[in-house]
Amino acid sequence: MCGIVGYIGSKKAKPILINGLLRLEYRGYDSAGVATIEKNGISVVKNKGRVAELEKLSAIDSLEGTIGIAHTRWATHGKPSTENSHPHVNGKKDFAVVHNGIIENYNELREFLLKQGYTFYSQTDTEVIPNLIDYYFSKDDKDDDKKVLRAVVSACSELKGSFALEILSTHLPDKMIVVRKDSPLVIGKTDTENYISSDIPAILSYTKDFYLLDDYEYVVLSKGSAEFYNSDLKPIKKQTVNIDWNASAAEKDGYDDFMLKEIHEQPKSIRETIGSRLSADGTCNIESLDFTKEYLNSLNKICIVACGTAMHAGLVGKTIFEKFCHIPTEVDIASEFRYRDPLINEKTLVVFITQSGETADTIAALKLSKQKGAKTLAISNVIGSSITREADYTIYTHAGPEIAVASTKAYTSQVVLISILAIYFAKLLEMKGKEIDALKDAILELPSKVEETLKCSKQIKCFAKKVYKEKDLFFLGRGIDYNVALEASLKLKEISYIHSDAYAAGELKHGPIALIEKDITVVSIMTDPNLVEKTISNVQEVITRGAKTLVITNQNLGDHKFDNIITIPETNPLISPILSVIPLQLLAYYISKEKGLDVDKPRNLAKSVTVE
Ligand code: F6R
Repeated sequence: MCGIVGYIGSKKAKPILINGLLRLEYRGYDSAGVATIEKNGISVVKNKGRVAELEKLSAIDSLEGTIGIAHTRWATHGKPSTENSHPHVNGKKDFAVVHNGIIENYNELREFLLKQGYTFYSQTDTEVIPNLIDYYFSKDDKDDDKKVLRAVVSACSELKGSFALEILSTHLPDKMIVVRKDSPLVIGKTDTENYISSDIPAILSYTKDFYLLDDYEYVVLSKGSAEFYNSDLKPIKKQTVNIDWNASAAEKDGYDDFMLKEIHEQPKSIRETIGSRLSADGTCNIESLDFTKEYLNSLNKICIVACGTAMHAGLVGKTIFEKFCHIPTEVDIASEFRYRDPLINEKTLVVFITQSGETADTIAALKLSKQKGAKTLAISNVIGSSITREADYTIYTHAGPEIAVASTKAYTSQVVLISILAIYFAKLLEMKGKEIDALKDAILELPSKVEETLKCSKQIKCFAKKVYKEKDLFFLGRGIDYNVALEASLKLKEISYIHSDAYAAGELKHGPIALIEKDITVVSIMTDPNLVEKTISNVQEVITRGAKTLVITNQNLGDHKFDNIITIPETNPLISPILSVIPLQLLAYYISKEKGLDVDKPRNLAKSVTVE
């Protein structure tokens, strides 16, 4: 997905911009570009391909300016090409713009501007923006220092869709204007500089003090200051937020890939998620929540809404909410929920799970839930992300920055946090029982058990060598193990490009078993003592038909024989996904490595999906 970087200060902007773009590479992109303000006007250098291709252009060496904007583009409107890459300028080249998001009414605006004599050189939606700014700028008779800002505000009021914009103008040569609507943008500040980005990790090594922008807040940046205005051009006050992520957390720390590093970080990230929310003496508290027993008793249901891996974390949450809180709980895919007129009202609590906090469908589902009167609670990993500013309540996973596109540590932290949330609700509801206490104890033991589980790495690597050339793989499980099978299958698909499917083991004989033939690999997960025998029977059915098997388990399998068994530590079956997913994350990782693929940046995928 597109990424934005910007700099305004006393240093040469180019190296800072390139460094920021490199840190955004994980988001996925197909072209890159920069623009700086030079003595003789705006200079734009852009190219199709990776940032390394951009750096090869000789024009980039001549950029000396101390104010600059930069962009990595993930093509939506128009093919990946140099013409379509950002920054885009107007014909006179007195405005340059980079843009994340989608301008839905760009056709209309383009038609209008064509009639006014403007010319377009790209197929992008973005190119209307510098031209529209120019249009309003030229029409404005008043010549004062707010003229560019007025033109930007007028242009933005015409734009439908989502945008995060950085704007340079030769009419304002020592400033930059930025604004956002439904697309992330943050400003990192020091005493003498401002760094701008769509993603905090890209600029985290420069500062920890950030302005988090709300929709339609216009910011005029200069070397040491940031002035904020609303759409009526009235000044507004804005405080910085301190983001205490460690800059080295956004580096590879000696690992070959971010994904491998993030898999191995899970003991730490889970510890951070538990934090002081759960302690050995049995207390359970979640900061910033003020729910009461009466409120929870009044609920008709809880809906958990998310996309992809985050939705899989929600599936685990459903079981725990229903078991311990006795509140009916549904799990929905955000892109389905938002268009199916869900039956929710003021008696519904809707929980949104999103690592990035920027997923367009999840945010839209939240807005819809609020319109319908439901209370909204966001579980996010990114402080100040868009969803956290929309939701009634936010709780953070505190897993640290997740850079690899394939989510690993964010998933396990989401499962941990939703389990703690269920315990917290159960406590408010005065539900008592040994099982709740047992779950608390099991959560506290997780960091060391994850450490133990990671020791299966070598065994998994050997297994990956055996199966990496296969065309199809199947994952089976029952109950909570089925939820993990879904996540394992998604992980494998996204980074190894091997087709895989996950089935509830009991469903096999209702259709999918027709796919089983000699030497096909079936991976099964067996962690629930109540269901292990049932799943074993299903796996026997595929063995009879010639399948090769890998079993992930912490149960006694008796005399049953399987080709490969990975034994993981025992834990409470409700949170077993946090352990059983680890060998399966590693399996996807090592298969991808065997195939020589780019693990961190799989094709066609983006880390945060900020468009529908
Ligand atoms: C898969 C993956 C995606 C995300 C999904 C939601 O590894 O990362 O499926 O889980 O795009 O993203 P967030 O959690 O940022 O809303």
